[in-house]
Amino acid sequence: MQLEGKNVLITGGTRGIGKCMIQELVNGGVRHIAVIARDKQNLKQLSQDFEDVKFIRITGDVANIEVLREAAALIEDKWGHLDILINNAGIVSAGPLEDIQDEDLYDQVAVNITAVFLLTKYCIPLLKASKEAAILNISSGLGLLGMPFYAAYGSTKAAVRQFSDAMRRELAPFNISVTCSFPTATDTDMMEKFKGRVMDSPEFVAHRSIEGLLNKELHVIFGGEERLRENIMNFEAPKEFDKMVAQNYEDRKKASLGHKAV
Ligand SMILES: NC(=O)c1ccc[n+]([C@@H]2O[C@H](COP(=O)([O-])OP(=O)(O)OC[C@H]3O[C@@H](n4cnc5c(N)ncnc54)[C@H](OP(=O)(O)O)[C@@H]3O)[C@@H](O)[C@H]2O)c1
Repeated sequence: MQLEGKNVLITGGTRGIGKCMIQELVNGGVRHIAVIARDKQNLKQLSQDFEDVKFIRITGDVANIEVLREAAALIEDKWGHLDILINNAGIVSAGPLEDIQDEDLYDQVAVNITAVFLLTKYCIPLLKASKEAAILNISSGLGLLGMPFYAAYGSTKAAVRQFSDAMRRELAPFNISVTCSFPTATDTDMMEKFKGRVMDSPEFVAHRSIEGLLNKELHVIFGGEERLRENIMNFEAPKEFDKMVAQNYEDRKKASLGHKAV
C-alpha cells in the first residue's frame, strides 16, 4: 500500500504515538487527515505543525457515540470515502484492582474498546468505498500478556487484539487489511506517572506501526526477542511465566501505583 493521496481518520492524533503517526503519514504524502481528540488547542496546533495538511478536526470524546457518528458523517460529506482508519486513542488507570476507581474501569472499556467497535462499524461503509483500505488498531504488549496491576487496561487491549483478528477475517473479501500494533512502554504523556524501565520512543513506535500497516502485517509486536520469548512462555508454560512474574511482584506493584492517564 502507498500513502500518497490517502484519506486518513485517526483518534488521538494530537500527542504521543498518534502525533508521531501523523508525521509518518505526512512524510509519505498524506494530505487529508481527520483527527478526533478532546483538547481543542492541541487539535488547532496540528494545522500549524503540519501546514500542508487539510485537517478535519473533531473535538470530542471517543466515549461519546455522537462524536463517532459525527466523525463518520463528516468524512462521508467531505471525502465520500475513507482509505485508512487508525484506532489509536487510549487511556490507562493501573494498580491493584480493588484500588482503581469504578469510573476509571468503565472509562477504560469505553475509550479503549467500545469506541474502537463503534468507530470501525461506522467507518466500514466508507472503507468499502475505497479502492484499497486499511485499519490500524493500537493495542499494547499488555494485550498479549496478562500482567498484575494492569488487569483492566490489559483486558481492553486483549479485546483490541481479538477484534483485529476477527475483523481482518470478516473484511478479507472487501480488500480491507487490518493490522494490530502492540507497543511496550513508550515515552509519552501516558507514561509520565509510570515509574518503570527504559522506554521506546514514540517516533520509533509510530514508524514501525505505519510500516506494518503499509506492509499489511497482521501484528506489529514491540519489545524485541525478550518479549517474544515471554509471549511463547506465557502460551506454552503459563505456570513458569507465573513464577517469573512473582519474582518481582513488589517492584511491579510499585511501578504501577499512581500510573494513570485518563
Ligand atoms: N505509551 C505507552 O507506553 C503505550 C504502550 C502500549 C500501548 N499504548 C497505546 O498507544 C495509544 C497511544 O498512546 P500514547 O502513549 O500516545 O498516549 P498519550 O500520549 O496519552 O496520547 C493519547 C492521545 O489520545 C487522545 N485521547 C485520549 N483519550 C481520549 C478520548 N477519550 N477521546 C478522544 N481522544 C482521546 C489524547 O488527546 P486528548 O487528551 O486531547 O483527548 C491524545 O491525543 C493508546 O491506545 C495506548 O493505550 C501506549
